[in-house]
Amino acid sequence: MSSVHAPIDVQQLRTHFPSLSRTVHDEIITYLDGPAGTQVPIEVIKAISHYYKTSNSNSHGYFTTAKETDLLLQETRNAVADFLNAPSGDCISFGQNMTTLNFSLCNALVKKWNPGDEVLITQMDHEANRQPWIKLKDQGIVVKEINMLPTGVLDYEDASKKINERTKLVALGWASNITGTVNDVRLIRELTKQVGAYLLLDAVHYAAHFSTDVQAVDCDFLLCSAYKFYGPHVGLLYCRQGLLDTLDPDRLRTQAQEAPYRIETGTLNHAAIAGVKAAINFIAGLGTGNQLKNKLKTGFEFIAGHERAMASMLYDGIKKMPGIHFFGTDFSNSERAPTISFYHDTLSAQEICKQLAEKQVQAWSGHFYAIRSTEVTGLIERGGVTRMGISAYTNTADIHRTLDVLKKILYK
Ligand SMILES: Cc1ncc(COP(=O)(O)O)c(C=O)c1O
Repeated sequence: MSSVHAPIDVQQLRTHFPSLSRTVHDEIITYLDGPAGTQVPIEVIKAISHYYKTSNSNSHGYFTTAKETDLLLQETRNAVADFLNAPSGDCISFGQNMTTLNFSLCNALVKKWNPGDEVLITQMDHEANRQPWIKLKDQGIVVKEINMLPTGVLDYEDASKKINERTKLVALGWASNITGTVNDVRLIRELTKQVGAYLLLDAVHYAAHFSTDVQAVDCDFLLCSAYKFYGPHVGLLYCRQGLLDTLDPDRLRTQAQEAPYRIETGTLNHAAIAGVKAAINFIAGLGTGNQLKNKLKTGFEFIAGHERAMASMLYDGIKKMPGIHFFGTDFSNSERAPTISFYHDTLSAQEICKQLAEKQVQAWSGHFYAIRSTEVTGLIERGGVTRMGISAYTNTADIHRTLDVLKKILYK
C-alpha cells in the first residue's frame, strides 16, 4: 500500500479506508460519527493483523516474539511521545481507554490530598473527566465546577473565581466533544500556576483534529484515546517527567514499579498498540518533513484545514434550514473543532438521526456523555442534540448528501 503524500488529495486519502467503500442497501455510508470513533485505514488493520501473525506473545521474555513485543511497545511509546510532543516515551502509559486511566490516576492522586483540598472540573466536560473527580467528595475533597455559558463556551471569570490556594488540580477538556469549543488551556494553566495546582487535560476530542503539544501548554497530565484518531481502542496517558513516580496507583507488587509502567495494570493489548503506532504513522504520512514530529505537525495542518472547510460548509448549509438552533459557536471563531451539534424546534434529535440513518448518514443523538452541558442548558429535556463530526476522510460529497437528506427530513 502506498503511503499518502502531501499535497494531499482527499479522494486518495479515502482509498486507504476500506470501510468507506461499504454500501448498505446499495447506498454508500456517510460517516459523521467520528467523534465517537473514526474509521480505520488499512495500514492500521494490517499492523494489528501482522502482530498476531508474527509476534503474538507476552512481554519480557528471552525469546524472539517476546523481544519483538517489547520493542513494539517501546517504539509505540516513542511515537506517542512525538504525537504529543512529550520529551520522551517514558512519559507515556497505555491503558484500556481514557476513562479507565483517568480513574486510576484520580485514585492515585487523592492519596496525596487531604479533606478540604479542592478539585475544579467543568460543566462542559465529558463525564470521563468529571465523575472520577466528583467521586472524591466521599473522601472529603471539595469538587467545584467551572460554569459553561449558554453559547457553549467556558465562563473564564467563573474559573478565576473558583481557583484558589486549596485547589490541587483542574481537570479540563481541551476541546468539547459536543460543541466543538476549544478551551483556553493556556489561560487555565496560568491560573493553576499561580496556586501551584496540577493541570490535567482531556485531549480525547482535541487530539483527533489538531497537533497536540504537551510542552507548549505545560500540562501535568494529558489523556487521549487512539480510536478517535484512526487507531484502535487504546487509552493514552502523558504524565510530566518524574511525576508518575511520585504517585501511588493501584498495582500489583509483581509488575514494573517505575514510570511509565507503574499505572499499567495487567497485560496490555499488544496488537492494538501495534495499531496505535500505525495510526500515528498514517497521520504523519499526510505531512511533510524528515522527522516524525514535523510530519505529524504538517499532517495535522492538512487535517485541521480540510476539516474546517468541510465543517464550515456543513454549518452554513444547516444554518439555512428552518427551525434549527446550534449548540456551540460558528466558524468565525479561529480555533474550533469540526464538530457540529444542533436541535430542532419540533423534531427530536433521535428522530432526526433515525431518519438520517435510513439514508446511511451516520450521526449521533443525545448528550454523548457530555451530559452536564446539556443539563445546564436544558437541552437534556429535549433529548439532547444531533451531532455531526467531520474527519480527515469527509469529502464534499458527504456534505452535499447530508444536507440533501436533512432538507428532506425537515421540509417534509
Ligand atoms: C472528550 C472525551 N473525553 C473522554 C472520552 C472517553 O474516552 P474513552 O472512551 O477512551 O474512555 C470521550 C469519548 O467519547 C470523549 O469524547
